[in-house]
Amino acid sequence: MTASLKAEDESSLRCWIMGVRYPPADILPGTDAVVGSAEDEIDPVLLGERLRAMGVDRGPVLRTHRYMARRPVVRAEFAGGAPLIVKWPHYDADLNSDNERRTLEMLDSAAEDPTLRGALPRLLGGGDADGLTVIEAVPGAETMAEASRRAGGVDGVHLLHFGAVLGLLHGLPVPGEVRDDPGWRPHVPIPNGLHLTPDEYAHGCGLDFDHYAASLQAVERELLELRSTWNACAVVHFDPSPDNVLLDAAGAAEHPVTLIDWEMAGLGDPAYDLGHVLGHMVSGHLRDMSAPASRPARAARVVQGYRLTRDLPAGEVVRAVRFCGLIQLLSALFRLERIGSLGEVGRLSLRVGQRILRDPEAMADTLFGPGLLR
Ligand SMILES: Nc1ncnc2c1ncn2[C@@H]1O[C@H](COP(=O)(O)OP(=O)(O)O)[C@@H](O)[C@H]1O
Ligand SMILES: [Mg+2]
Repeated sequence: MTASLKAEDESSLRCWIMGVRYPPADILPGTDAVVGSAEDEIDPVLLGERLRAMGVDRGPVLRTHRYMARRPVVRAEFAGGAPLIVKWPHYDADLNSDNERRTLEMLDSAAEDPTLRGALPRLLGGGDADGLTVIEAVPGAETMAEASRRAGGVDGVHLLHFGAVLGLLHGLPVPGEVRDDPGWRPHVPIPNGLHLTPDEYAHGCGLDFDHYAASLQAVERELLELRSTWNACAVVHFDPSPDNVLLDAAGAAEHPVTLIDWEMAGLGDPAYDLGHVLGHMVSGHLRDMSAPASRPARAARVVQGYRLTRDLPAGEVVRAVRFCGLIQLLSALFRLERIGSLGEVGRLSLRVGQRILRDPEAMADTLFGPGLLR
């Protein structure tokens, strides 16, 4: 998902949520302006030198492994020291690539709870001329997305711990620097109107763009109502998708869950984070109907963990479920962008998203079991 959520920028938000994509002005057809080939083939020797120049010296880089990510993210391995993760900035000019570093620094001084601290990746350096960010690699970790594809899926202990960490994050007293600086407030992820201008319509992405836009507009009232409930009262992650949660695969680590990828974090609505988590559970199920019907128990585990560390009234769970409906719509958009058309899964996501937004309580019972709201 492309993130462009600076609070003051309603037009970027419209493009993001409504699937309107303008080509960047500085990219000419036929030129390679997006990424240098050096980043495609990362040279271990050069990377080692760049790290040393940033004050991170673990000796020569022996090997690099590039992750599937929206920009280069590389694991660097050394002869003597523990591996590191190096992240290049987004080439998407809309994104503020300092936000992850700024957030990790802020949390390092604000978060006191050892469980929350243990769930944060350790920032080692960054902000050089190239905008690299260097983070300690979590040893023996797999992402929650990988774990959920394995037979048996993510185990209950990890889900409970993940919920508890999210509750601790949302319960963190908001530091003054965050509360008072509008730069910490990401946009409410719903535009204030869903009708397209002819120009936006002409720049809609994918073959089924009209179907997507019409589906969004059909729940405009519900989306605008949800927008009006936005309550920016806590530091939120904003993108707690299963790719951004690392689990300790061996089950022996002191801190079994690490929340990574903080570039969208800011002062936001905790129900959105929780809805994001529920939304990815539903999307995973829609993609793979053959998976065992473990979703209700998994969602309940996360909510149970959350309640161990933060108060969560039933009304807040309902709002989270409504955001989970929004995530279904966005997951259809993601398919439209990636695949070019909605396909059956995309159409199903739109239908499910609409139904959740129209009747969150009934859909919460259907999707997650009656335990979630009680
Ligand atoms: N600290 C870390 N330890 C181990 N793996 C990591 C770490 N940080 C990132 N990764 C791996 O790299 C992938 C991409 O990193 P991420 O921070 O999510 O970047 P992006 O913003 O491009 O999604 C993750 O999904 C994960 O597999
Ligand atoms: Mg990520």
